[in-house]
Amino acid sequence: MVNCQTAKGPIGVFDSGYGGLTILRQIRKIMPQYDYLYLGDNARTPYGTRSFDIVYEFTLQAVRYLFEQGCHLVILACNTASAKALRSIQQEDLPKLDPKRRVLGVIRPTVEVVGSISKTRHVGIMATPGTIYSRTYELEIAKLSPDIQVTGEACPMWVPLVENEEYDSPGADYFVRERIESLLHRDPLIDSVILGCTHYPLLIGKIRKYMPEGVNIIEQGSYVAQSLENYLGRHQEIKERITTGGTARYLTTEQAEAFQSKAAIFMGSPLEAERVQL
Ligand code: DGL
Repeated sequence: MVNCQTAKGPIGVFDSGYGGLTILRQIRKIMPQYDYLYLGDNARTPYGTRSFDIVYEFTLQAVRYLFEQGCHLVILACNTASAKALRSIQQEDLPKLDPKRRVLGVIRPTVEVVGSISKTRHVGIMATPGTIYSRTYELEIAKLSPDIQVTGEACPMWVPLVENEEYDSPGADYFVRERIESLLHRDPLIDSVILGCTHYPLLIGKIRKYMPEGVNIIEQGSYVAQSLENYLGRHQEIKERITTGGTARYLTTEQAEAFQSKAAIFMGSPLEAERVQL
């Protein structure tokens, strides 16, 4: 059991680094009334090239930490953590930690919209190697839209480009273009591409530049935010345990100063961060 507080608390939002801020930004846009506690494991990012066991271990540490800070609801705003750790945490750890708390991911809300967007029924997923090789998107899409053919493209360089603020550089052009060309070469009938990594919205300028016209680019932030709003509408017992001060606090496992300057780019406004140890 975690150090159980029954008092209300903020919504926890977790990512391996900065990527989850693109999700938090969209969530705050439609639900500014809640308090949020963001945690970026910047000291150990990226997760996308790590093994299943390590991603699970790190993600569980983060969830426990956010529970201890008083969060009753934690969003894994990271596709890699959602793909590799969410199910085990929900099924095996939550019952032991505190069955009344909730951990939600970002893959299911994204998958729920793809069936109504694709006309050719050929969909591409661009994500970290961890997310692609887990095949979670394929499995989830097969459950909801079994007629859709899914092709996954691992983009190992895209997160490092974003983390190193190279997303506008000529180097980024090379890596973005080669992955898009590879995906569309493997399945030329693709008419919709899911950006299955929360870092990728920062590369959107380059992605639009190389994605052929007529291919829908599915960014997940707004879908995750809408899905969370629906969820809270259906789950009063969780909703009433969230504080409503309209604030956001930012925690990082790396140096606070570095986090602040980069995170401001993701959030579009300055912010203050605190360094923590998991
Ligand atoms: N932002 C994470 C995701 O959505 C991945 C970043 C990483 O590789 O750590 O998958």
